[in-house]
Amino acid sequence: MLAKFTPIVAAILVVAVATVTHGQVDDRYRPKIHFSIAANWINDPNGMVYMDGEYHLHYQYNPADSVWGPMHWGHSVSTDLVTWTDLPIAMFPDHLGQIFSGSAVVDFNNSTGFQQDDVNVPIVAIFTHAGDSQQQSIGYSLDKGRTYAKFEGNPVIPNPGIPDFRDPKVIQYDDKWILLLAAGNKVMFYSSTDLKTWEYTSEFGADPEQGEHSGVWECPDLFPLQFGGETVWILIVSINPGGPNGGSATQYFVGGFDGVNFNSPQMTPLWMDWGVDNYAAISFFNEPSGRAVNMGWMNNWDYANGLPTIGWRGQMTLPRVMDLVLVNGQLRLASNPAPELRTLFKNETYQTVPNQVVEADQVLEIPTGNSSLLHTEFTFDTRTMGIGSSLAICMTNPAGQEVCTGFDKGRERPFFLNRSDSGFVDFAPNFSRRITATRERSSTEAIKFEIYWDVTAVEVFIDGGLTCMTALFYPDEPYTILEVRHHGAGNPGGTLVISSGSIRSLYAMDELINKK
Ligand code: FRU
Repeated sequence: MLAKFTPIVAAILVVAVATVTHGQVDDRYRPKIHFSIAANWINDPNGMVYMDGEYHLHYQYNPADSVWGPMHWGHSVSTDLVTWTDLPIAMFPDHLGQIFSGSAVVDFNNSTGFQQDDVNVPIVAIFTHAGDSQQQSIGYSLDKGRTYAKFEGNPVIPNPGIPDFRDPKVIQYDDKWILLLAAGNKVMFYSSTDLKTWEYTSEFGADPEQGEHSGVWECPDLFPLQFGGETVWILIVSINPGGPNGGSATQYFVGGFDGVNFNSPQMTPLWMDWGVDNYAAISFFNEPSGRAVNMGWMNNWDYANGLPTIGWRGQMTLPRVMDLVLVNGQLRLASNPAPELRTLFKNETYQTVPNQVVEADQVLEIPTGNSSLLHTEFTFDTRTMGIGSSLAICMTNPAGQEVCTGFDKGRERPFFLNRSDSGFVDFAPNFSRRITATRERSSTEAIKFEIYWDVTAVEVFIDGGLTCMTALFYPDEPYTILEVRHHGAGNPGGTLVISSGSIRSLYAMDELINKK
């Protein structure tokens, strides 16, 4: 998003939103296991931070309408990463502009001097003020994020003459704060000891041959992961457009960081998610188990403002845990659903799928208990499938609408997620899509699909999270029929083997809250 607002316009908008009344909200397409907002518009997750038993999810929020508009920071908290409680708006636009994306930290040692007593440790939010230009500013809360004040000395990093200069993410490195932000075609790094005075230290990514560069870089994140006793650093960079299946997507670089420079030998783009609806994912600061856990905005700028929801627009992905995996001598990022999500499982409806052969052109229907909220896991042995044949795991409805994910044997990008027959697809020209993705593992290895199905969204994790695909869809009636299909494609002799499978129906987030 490159839209700009002058401070005067922003000031008028602040007054305007205070008087706005919300239009009608229709919950037909509301997800049941994903975070969504009651009314109006959200985009990127912001200010992801954990403190005193709470995960804070701030987000880009337009409280006046269900399309992108004057940006505030909305706010929700969770004690379990699964159920969320809304809090009042955390930050409003002001004379310096709108409140664009950014991050938050816990200032344990009161490096800012914002702390006023021995008890209330500051949460410090670092964000982009988007007015005449984009500059970085800070705000702070002394009451666990319930209210925020802005620092009088804002901006803390004025604009250096770069139009796209935004989305600061702050991490801690030794006794320093490190800030990274997106600056058009690269990431710039700064360092500070008090979060107020920042020194520019380095940059990464301006080489057009390094990574994907066919859109603007946005929302960077940087976190360390351990592998074989070594610390490896992952730099996340969202890009729009330029995703591997069109529009917005999130790439990553595997490298090293010494507190000043991020370096990576990697030139070819790698994708945290092949798309199409996972953007601007940012990890929590101070995650209590030291994990890198992130959530993304479940959307794509290609059609974000036109989604067919009424009165509300926007939702987040499920929380995901990032890890490193060695594949063919190369370190790769694996994203997997946070284990906390298993509290969504209705154990009484768990069923296993026995080891069995699916003949070419056979369709295996698997009972779902009439639920559209499902967690499904299948491991396939595809060695006896014919080249050119495919397997598909599909959710469908009596109207014949469907979303299928699967594996096309022999293709360069063998994994797919197809929503082109999923129901309401023509509200935007480029929503109807068949997403494809590469496989990191060798073609003879067993393939495991772990999938979370919501009523209007699916998250697919393949090969232990090495390939992820995430997509929204809008069926006319719920998908309650689950099928595993083997398309023979002229290879009638080939067989597909299901080595194991399991299906669980899930609680809706609200049911889980009521159960507590
Ligand atoms: C990414 C983004 C950010 C910006 C925000 C504005 O989706 O464009 O770069 O800060 O959204 O809402």
